Amino acid sequence: MGLLGCQTQSGAFPKGDASERMRGFAVRVLSRRDPLFLAGERTGHDQVRHRGGARERAMAEKFFSQLKCRECGRTYPALATHVCEFDFGPLEADYNYSAIGAVLNRKVIESRPGTMWRYRELLPIVGDPTVGQQVGFTPLVKADRLAKALGVKACYVKNDTVNHPTLSFKDRVVAVALSRARELGFKVVACASTGNLANSVAANAASAGMESWVLIPADLEQNKVLNSIVYGTNVVGIEGAYDAVNRLCSEIAGKYGWGFVNVNLRPYYAEGSKTYGYEIMEQLGWRIPRHTVVCMASGSLLTKIHKAYGEFTKLGLVEKDGFSIHGAQATGCNPITAARKGGTDLIRPVPHPKTIAKSLAIGTPADGYYAVKSMAKTGGWSEDATDEEIIAGVQLLAETEGIFAETAGGVTVACAKKLVATGKIPKDEEVVLCITGHGLKTVEALTGHLAAPSKIKPSLKEFDSLISSGLAKTRVKV
Ligand SMILES: Cc1ncc(COP(=O)(O)O)c(C=O)c1O
Ligand SMILES: [Zn+2]
Repeated sequence: MGLLGCQTQSGAFPKGDASERMRGFAVRVLSRRDPLFLAGERTGHDQVRHRGGARERAMAEKFFSQLKCRECGRTYPALATHVCEFDFGPLEADYNYSAIGAVLNRKVIESRPGTMWRYRELLPIVGDPTVGQQVGFTPLVKADRLAKALGVKACYVKNDTVNHPTLSFKDRVVAVALSRARELGFKVVACASTGNLANSVAANAASAGMESWVLIPADLEQNKVLNSIVYGTNVVGIEGAYDAVNRLCSEIAGKYGWGFVNVNLRPYYAEGSKTYGYEIMEQLGWRIPRHTVVCMASGSLLTKIHKAYGEFTKLGLVEKDGFSIHGAQATGCNPITAARKGGTDLIRPVPHPKTIAKSLAIGTPADGYYAVKSMAKTGGWSEDATDEEIIAGVQLLAETEGIFAETAGGVTVACAKKLVATGKIPKDEEVVLCITGHGLKTVEALTGHLAAPSKIKPSLKEFDSLISSGLAKTRVKV
């Protein structure tokens, strides 16, 4: 039969089987005649149109020129393809670190503009970036009040709620994916998304003059939908959970030959997340934090922060230090946390996610297997948070640090609190919290949980009595 990967009846991936490594891809139908492979073939070498002069291109190709299977190490041309044909391992960008090390040092990086592209040599494009030139270099906030509330010695918030242009870390991955998509000659870009990626593809494609299509579960937050539509993209709501959206996108990618940033362009897209990790290290004064807490959907961001820490160590940009990376999910969709807690790398899909953290609601996480491995290797743990805990996490971050995060940020804060309480993050150590999207995108999650404003007539007398009554400080749910 034409299927190379499929799920077992139990829904889990059997260990040792090729489908185990397929991880999230197992729900996709894959064969040599599969649309995914065809998408790669159709955008073959002759369609590659690199920008920039021959000299710049030759320089860039010294740093990055091919993809490599994470499992067997086979190499592939740097085209629109993402799965190894032999063992279904994911393809990753392959770099020449000695060539990079010869030109990249702290001084060079610090001399460059404050964007994610200051780490240009470690990103998988060949010409100059043409999309998302302003993305990244968001603040790393020393969060003393939050540290006190969590009961930990030091806490930092890596604040991508203010990432440009769409207020989430997804602008990083999209900047790389669309820059590479243009190099590969794609005219139409698309994505399967839980909301933030759709916003970012829509905005960045608009600014690049590209046609875009974003496919999302039909029941996403109003603001997430609106924040895509406004850019003039084509929004398609799918009646089903994210996994169903993703499966459909794999089929569309092949049939229409579009560049799906998180399907056939995934090796390029995923690398953008490394810049979040590079910035943490640079902004900490060129060192790796002892603990990092990362919210997870597919698990990709966590694995790429791990990769970033490793690359900077390899390049001598930071000292080789011990560190732990911890994961955070919602209790209503916690396949990666469940695997870590169960002491296995077997990801058991969650067929019907149920959480207010919709951006994290991926039941079959494509990089779950590798996220578990990253946590285990670094001595990290993983937690999950209920809807009530997520809301409390959003409020705690807002009230202590003045940062309004979306529900995914509430997940990070709530799980960090548990990690400290259980001693997985010792109280006398430091932690960086990955806050990845803005709260204005998920306001409805807070409905019924915040205090109503006091209402008085425009009179000083009324204001005086409000103060003396103490009512202004009383929490009344709205
Ligand atoms: C705000 C936010 N944070 C974190 C994530 C998790 O990303 P990943 O799929 O890389 O685990 C997402 C994914 O959509 C997101 O929207
Ligand atoms: Zn392979």
